[in-house]
Amino acid sequence: MGNSEKPIISFKNVNKVYPNGTQGLKDLNIEIHPGEFVIVVGLSGAGKSTMLRSINRLHEISSGEIVIDGKSITHAKGKNLRLIRRDIGMIFQSFNLIKRSTVLKNVLTGRVAYHSTFKTFFGLFPKEDKELAYESLQRVNLAEKVYARADELSGGQQQRVSIARALAQRPKIFLADEPVASLDPITTEKVMDDLKRINQDLGITIVVNLHSVALAREYGTRIIGLRAGELVFDGPVEEATDETLQAIYGKEIIEAQEEVAQ
Ligand SMILES: Nc1ncnc2c1ncn2[C@@H]1O[C@H](COP(=O)(O)OP(=O)(O)OP(=O)(O)O)[C@@H](O)[C@H]1O
Ligand SMILES: [Mg+2]
Repeated sequence: MGNSEKPIISFKNVNKVYPNGTQGLKDLNIEIHPGEFVIVVGLSGAGKSTMLRSINRLHEISSGEIVIDGKSITHAKGKNLRLIRRDIGMIFQSFNLIKRSTVLKNVLTGRVAYHSTFKTFFGLFPKEDKELAYESLQRVNLAEKVYARADELSGGQQQRVSIARALAQRPKIFLADEPVASLDPITTEKVMDDLKRINQDLGITIVVNLHSVALAREYGTRIIGLRAGELVFDGPVEEATDETLQAIYGKEIIEAQEEVAQ
């Protein structure tokens, strides 16, 4: 993972100002390399979701540029934009599954970007896609649920379906916006373990927003700290000492989290 390698995500002087004047991101310059497991931390409102959603252009930035694997997503249009987005899988806190559909159908929607709208509208996915969907479910240990309805599953299982859906997309990058915020501690570990395995076995670059400092330390290879839209920390997990975390969060929050942990 040497720094000579070309970054897979670069933020170049990125600013985001919301229409109401809130500065979501302030002059961000970040390079993320293939295979990294980056965790973005910061207080509520720090700009974590804004940063993540800028990467696949769910949010438009106001100035600067974001480059994905050598291609500017900021300036891409039409087919080129779709092709860049296809390389980026996304996982949400609320899972975003089609509740009344089967697990298989949900995972197959990860393939939509590869086919014509007409075919996928009628559910006409090739056999290889179904195999890929099944394989993706195996990776998150959910193969036995392939024909279950999504809303019959537990929260943790639903999140693993959404991971399988993102995997079926065959992306180079995974973005996850607080993927475990609504899960209990044991399920949280399972979902984070799945992400770690996907990162290590498939080499997919992962960027995750998390509230928990403990989880960030356990799973990340690199921590990015935001405060009021600004980069206030960027380094390996080992360098994210209590003092640096205090700079990101303020002293009170760290002490409160330690109390909860005890
Ligand atoms: N659509 C919007 N319009 C105006 N301001 C917004 C909008 N979305 C977010 N903001 C503001 O931008 C800043 C960053 O918000 P963002 O959602 O990125 O924070 P976050 O770090 O993800 O917070 P949380 O931990 O609560 O999810 C906040 O001040 C927020 O109020
Ligand atoms: Mg957020």
